[in-house]
Amino acid sequence: MKAFELRGFGLESLVLTERPEPVPGPFETVVRMRAASLNYRDLVLIQGTYDPKLRLPLVPLSDGAGEVVAVGPGVTRVKPGDRVVLSYVQDWVTGEPEPSLVTRRLGGPLDGVLAEYVKVPEHGLVRAPAHLSDVEAATLPIAAVTAWHALFEVGRVRPGDTVLVEGTGGVSLFALQLARLAGARVLVTSGSDEKLARAKALGASAGINYRKTPEWDEAVLSLTGGRGVDHVVEVAGGPNLSRALRAVRMGGEVTVVGFLEEMRAELELLQAIRRHVTVRAVSVGSRASFEHLVRALEVHEVHPVVDRVFPFADARAALGYLASGQHFGKVALAFPR
Ligand SMILES: NC(=O)c1ccc[n+]([C@@H]2O[C@H](COP(=O)([O-])OP(=O)(O)OC[C@H]3O[C@@H](n4cnc5c(N)ncnc54)[C@H](OP(=O)(O)O)[C@@H]3O)[C@@H](O)[C@H]2O)c1
Repeated sequence: MKAFELRGFGLESLVLTERPEPVPGPFETVVRMRAASLNYRDLVLIQGTYDPKLRLPLVPLSDGAGEVVAVGPGVTRVKPGDRVVLSYVQDWVTGEPEPSLVTRRLGGPLDGVLAEYVKVPEHGLVRAPAHLSDVEAATLPIAAVTAWHALFEVGRVRPGDTVLVEGTGGVSLFALQLARLAGARVLVTSGSDEKLARAKALGASAGINYRKTPEWDEAVLSLTGGRGVDHVVEVAGGPNLSRALRAVRMGGEVTVVGFLEEMRAELELLQAIRRHVTVRAVSVGSRASFEHLVRALEVHEVHPVVDRVFPFADARAALGYLASGQHFGKVALAFPR
């Protein structure tokens, strides 16, 4: 089968090669991949900054959807022909995260989905939402599950709340769509007025251009009558975290998800303490969270925002496009049928 291997760090070390087709063992399945989606994590992993000790060669990319084509002895959850999405944190089925449950992650350290066939245990699969295409389903495992976890599993978003999402990448647009489903008001920041207009068309109430208004936290306060938002989904890190702390209301929540600006952040402790702010971090979510997300998307017929779809063979170009930051929502790959 065809697969891309990362043989060293850097996009130039991502090589299309041949690998043997996997054969399922007991309780394992083989999925013929139909689509994959890209995450910021894939970029930093390929660059070598995410985990400099990552074992190579590795088949990268974490998010994919496809069709079950073979099952090993004992498999009961799925059968050949089923449309499925692969769960990124393979063994975290339900409940609280435990170190032993969260280590086996697709696309590093485990081989990922940038291959024609992928072998995973049956417990690492989720039924693909019926109303979504393969490409749309492939956008869910990291970005959508993280947004769901942040807003509804650890977060306590209620109708009437105000949620701030930062930028218009994968996680943030899912957070926008899901917060709207829950009846929340959404404010969005972006470095582009054009993207802000598109975010408003998706249901955001107001947008702030963080390039034109670097003190965007002050703009958030004026949009909320000085009170601040109830929740922030924080994707940038660096000095941005302190701004998020100033933009949230007393007693509000900042859920730390990403590090688009920096992998470190400075926290103004008095801002957090005096204002009773909950600051917490999340890392994706369990399969149970994923299944709750699928149910909500199906009931409300929500479609992910897919910016651009590249062919499988153009994976490097797709990653370069993601790195350029031009995208609005998700960048995906369609596999040959
Ligand atoms: N904790 C987890 O489980 C988890 C899961 C998924 C992702 N993440 C992390 O979350 C972050 C976002 O991931 P993603 O996959 O959604 O990324 P993405 O799709 O590549 O999103 C990038 C977008 O973020 C916006 N952005 C860039 N720098 C920004 C800044 N300083 N302030 C505000 N917005 C900024 C830009 O949007 P505009 O052009 O509109 O400005 C950019 O297009 C990454 O750091 C990723 O590693 C963490």
